[in-house]
Parts: sequence; C-alpha cells; structure tokens
Amino acid sequence: MAPSILCIRTGLVSLLAAVSKVVAQSVPGGTLFVGGGVPGSGSYTLVDDYEPSIFFNKFNFYNSYDPTYGHVQYVSKDVAVTNGYVQTSSSSVIIKPDTTNAWPNGGPGRPSVRIVSDNTYTHGLFLLDLTHMPHGCGTWPAYWLVGPNWPSNGEIDIIEGVNTNVANSISLHSSPGCSIGGAGQSGIFETSNCDSNANGNSGCGTLTNVTVTPYTYGTGLNNIQGGVYATEWTSNWVKTWFFPRGQIPSSITNGAPDVSQFGLPLANQQAQGNYQCTIDNHFANQSVVINIDFCGAWAGQVYGYNSACPQSSSASSLDR
Ligand SMILES: *[C@@H]1O[C@H](CO)[C@@H](O)[C@H](O)[C@H]1NC(C)=O
Repeated sequence: MAPSILCIRTGLVSLLAAVSKVVAQSVPGGTLFVGGGVPGSGSYTLVDDYEPSIFFNKFNFYNSYDPTYGHVQYVSKDVAVTNGYVQTSSSSVIIKPDTTNAWPNGGPGRPSVRIVSDNTYTHGLFLLDLTHMPHGCGTWPAYWLVGPNWPSNGEIDIIEGVNTNVANSISLHSSPGCSIGGAGQSGIFETSNCDSNANGNSGCGTLTNVTVTPYTYGTGLNNIQGGVYATEWTSNWVKTWFFPRGQIPSSITNGAPDVSQFGLPLANQQAQGNYQCTIDNHFANQSVVINIDFCGAWAGQVYGYNSACPQSSSASSLDR
C-alpha cells in the first residue's frame, strides 16, 4: 500500500458552551459526533464531543487478532503513542499504521490501529470531519459502528473500501429479518438483505456513484482534503451524507446541524415496499470503530483482480 495515514480533523464546534472554542478554532468542520436529538426531527443537541485533546481518551485500543484475517498487528495505546501511530494536535488527530518498514507475507503483519469507543449509542447524528484516508494496494480502512454480540445488535459501516477503490461502500449487517430498499439516495444500491448469514456476509449496501459524488473515498477524498461525513440513525432509517470540503453546510460548521437541509443522502437505508426492517430490533448500543486493516477477508480476496496491484516500484510502495 502507499504510505498513507488516516487523518481526522475534529472541529470544536459545540452547541452548548464552547463558544470561545468555536471562535478560536480554524477548522471548518463540525463536532465529531452529535446525538440525542429527537429521531428524525432534524434537530440535534450535542451529547458527545470528540475534540482532539480528548479524542484518544474516549477509545479503547483493540490489540488482539484481526477477526477479518488481515495482515495486521493491532497495537496497544502505549505502542501506538510511542511509535507515532496516533498523534494529536490542537486541531486534529492522526491515526496511521507503520509506514516505514516492510512486513513480508507470512510474517506477523503490519502494525496498525483499531480503536473502539467507550461510549455506545442508539440513534443519533454522527459527524466525522476527515481530511485524509489510506488508499492503495492492500489497504482496507474503515469507520463504522458496531453493537455487542455481533450480529445481534448490528453493524453500520459508514466508510469502507479496499485497495485503489474510489467509491465508498456503505452497508448494514444484521441478524436475520432485516432488508432494505434502495430508493431516495444518490449511491448505487447493491443488495437488500442485511442478514450477516446471507450472501457471505456482504450486508445490505450501497456503493457511492463516483460520477455524481467523486470525493467520498480514497484519492478522490484526499485530493480535496476530505470533508464531513454525516450519518443519521433513527428508528426508521440510517442515512449517510458526505459534504466535500468547501461544501459543508453552515448548520454543521455553526454547531447546529439541520438534517432537513442536507439534501439527497449517499445511502438511505430503511424498509421500503417489500423490504422490511424494524431498525430498533436489529441495531442498538453501538460503539464507534476506526481501523486500518491490510489485505484479509476483503482487500486480500480481491487484490488479485485489481490490475493496479501490486503497485509499481516507482510508487514509493510498501506493498510487500
Ligand atoms: C451514476 O450517475 C450517473 C449520473 O447521474 C448515471 O448516469 C449513472 O447511471 C449512475 N451509475 C449507476 C451505476 O447507477
């Protein structure tokens, strides 16, 4: 993969008391996560702020084996801090893998980071201001939500992709009995059955349409310094939007996100027509997870079909 980092810029915009922070900070983005409003009302109150200075205090560093079989060693917080895999500045945090060493096939895998939020959520509006993300052969970064006793409490994948993809994959994974329609979204609807037992756990997903939304993932996102991902989870739907840098709604930058002004989402995941899903029966108490995986069950499986992989030696590649 190309040496690349996942860089999250969290704004300090607060609905509550942090007016001085709003004035002081130069970041155009919003708070990382806002939740607790009346579901679907379009009006939200800040309940949880993931601003940079406290960001890593709000996550557990998962450092056991990778359940998705990646060529990766997830490290503890101590190791991540010591080696600079996580970094904090006044306006942003950085999450990255080891980008300097070769980790040959058959060995222990590339040191990387997988963090899981202490706080768990049912419903809410989740905002992520992202400036840069990993891309390139072998990479498999993800920003997602997941509940305990998977798949009983579900999984909401907001940013996910592999290798040199330029489209983002947004999907739900659930216990049996949840399927969604694909109307009312700009993304390309792929599958309706969210049951993790169906279709090899591909979930019910949408791929962003790079013709209409070219900046949602990989090099497209990085070329414009990213933007804001917004995901609204209510009893009735899970909707995800992406606002490119420079087109972030003022309600977000002002700290009072108004979902009714967000327009057509990338993905509109809800029961429609013959596709039925009682969201609250399948999705609850979810943590936020951010991880950077390599190869494994997705990136590795399709690596051989990607003509761009392995990368040429001129690409300063660590694809080995
Ligand atoms: C992507 O969007 C373009 C422009 O609206 C449309 O012509 C095309 O059919 C879409 N692609 C798919 C696979 O739906």
